[in-house]
Amino acid sequence: MRSSVPGAPDRRPATQGEQAAAPLLEVANAFEIPGRWRGSVPYGSGHIHDTFLVVFEQDGRPVRFVQQRLNTRVFHDPHAVMENVRRVTEHQRVALERAGVADTERRALRLVPARERGFEYVDTEGGFWRTFAFIEGASSQDVIRSPEDARVAAEAFGRFQAMLADLPAPRLAETIPHFHDARARFEALEAAAAHDALDRLDGCRAELDGFRRNEPLLDRLDRLHAEGLLPERIAHNDTKLNNVLTDDRTGEALCVIDLDTVMPGLVLHDFGDLVRTATSPTPEDERDLSRIDVQPAMLAALARGYLDGAGGFLTPAERDELVFSGILVTLVVGMRFLTDHLEGDGYFRAHRPGHNLDRARSQLRLAERILSRRDELEAIVGEASHGPTPPSLFRSP
Ligand SMILES: Nc1ncnc2c1ncn2[C@@H]1O[C@H](COP(=O)(O)OP(=O)(O)O)[C@@H](O)[C@H]1O
Ligand SMILES: [Mg+2]
Repeated sequence: MRSSVPGAPDRRPATQGEQAAAPLLEVANAFEIPGRWRGSVPYGSGHIHDTFLVVFEQDGRPVRFVQQRLNTRVFHDPHAVMENVRRVTEHQRVALERAGVADTERRALRLVPARERGFEYVDTEGGFWRTFAFIEGASSQDVIRSPEDARVAAEAFGRFQAMLADLPAPRLAETIPHFHDARARFEALEAAAAHDALDRLDGCRAELDGFRRNEPLLDRLDRLHAEGLLPERIAHNDTKLNNVLTDDRTGEALCVIDLDTVMPGLVLHDFGDLVRTATSPTPEDERDLSRIDVQPAMLAALARGYLDGAGGFLTPAERDELVFSGILVTLVVGMRFLTDHLEGDGYFRAHRPGHNLDRARSQLRLAERILSRRDELEAIVGEASHGPTPPSLFRSP
C-alpha cells in the first residue's frame, strides 16, 4: 500500500495509525486537495453510500471535505452517475451566478477533481470514490416534524428543479432505469403474487386486492405526458428531508444533496413523494391504520413551499396534478413494499416479520385517504397556489 502519492511526497497521515488509515489516506490523496491529510471518519446517516468526513490542514487551518464510496449495487453505472452530478452541479452554479445569489458556494455541491482523471477514483479494492467540498454551517434533519420543515424541504426541491429546468442537451442519463414506471411496478407485484415463492400470499390478499382496486389510476401521469400535457423535466427522485441542508443560523434551505437519482422524469414524482413522506403524522411502517391520514396543514405547507421554490416554471397541468401525484407515488411505493414482502424482503430491510407488509398496508391506507379527501385537498393546494408567488430567482427563460 502506498503511503505517499507521486507529486505529494509530504502527504502522510498525521493523526491515525498508518495500518488502519492507509486505504482512506490513499483515497484522500487521490483528489486535488492541497495541504496535509488529518483524518477521515464515517459521517452522516445516509443509507446508500459510505460517507466520510475528511479533514485536511491548509495553511494551519482545518478544511473539510466529504468523500463517498458509491454503492455500485444500486448504481450499476457509476460513471454515468458522476457525469450527471457534474453537469447538474455546474449548471446550478451557472444559474446561481446568473441570478446574483450570495453564498453560491453553499448553495450547490462542488465536486473536487481527481488527480488522475475526471472527478472519480477507483481504489485498490475496486471501490468507486468521489469528493465534495463540505458545506459548512449547515445540517440536515431526518424527519419532517412541522409544517415549517415541510415548507422548507418542498421549497428546496422546487428551487432545485427550477434551476435545472433549462439544463442544455444532451438528456441526463437514467441512473436507475424505469424508476417511476408504475405499470412495471404493478406487473412486478402481480408476478410476485403469482409465483408466491414463500407462501405469503394468503397473508396479504386484502392488500393485493387493494392495489388491484387502484390499478386504473396508475397510468394517469404517463398518459398526460404522452398527450404532451406533462413535460419531461429533471427531477431529484429522492426528496427526503435529510437530503436538504439548511443553514444553522437562519434555518433556510441552502442546498439539495444526494444527486445520484437526479434523472429526466416528471417533476410531480418529487412532489408526490413529499406528500407520501410528510403529510401523515405516522411513520412509513405504522401498524395502527386509524392514525394514518393527511394533515391539511402539512399539505398546504408543502404546496406553498414547493410553488414558491419552483416559482412559475410549472405548467397549469403540473399544478393540477399535485394532489394526484401524492396518491400515485404512495401507491407505487406501497406496491414495491408488497412485492418485496412476497419475494422475501430482499430489497427493503425488514426489522421484524411482516415489516414490508406493514409498510405496504400503511401506504395503501394513506393513498386511499388522499383519494377519498381529494376535493378538499385540491382546494387546499389551489389556495396555496393562488397566493402571491414571489419572483423566483431561477425562473426558466
Ligand atoms: N457536501 C456536503 N457537506 C456537508 N454534509 C454533507 C455533504 N454531502 C453529504 N453530507 C452529509 O452526509 C449525509 C449522507 O450523504 P448523502 O449524499 O445524502 O448519502 P446517502 O445516499 O447515503 O444518503 C447527508 O445526510 C449529509 O448530512
Ligand atoms: Mg441522503
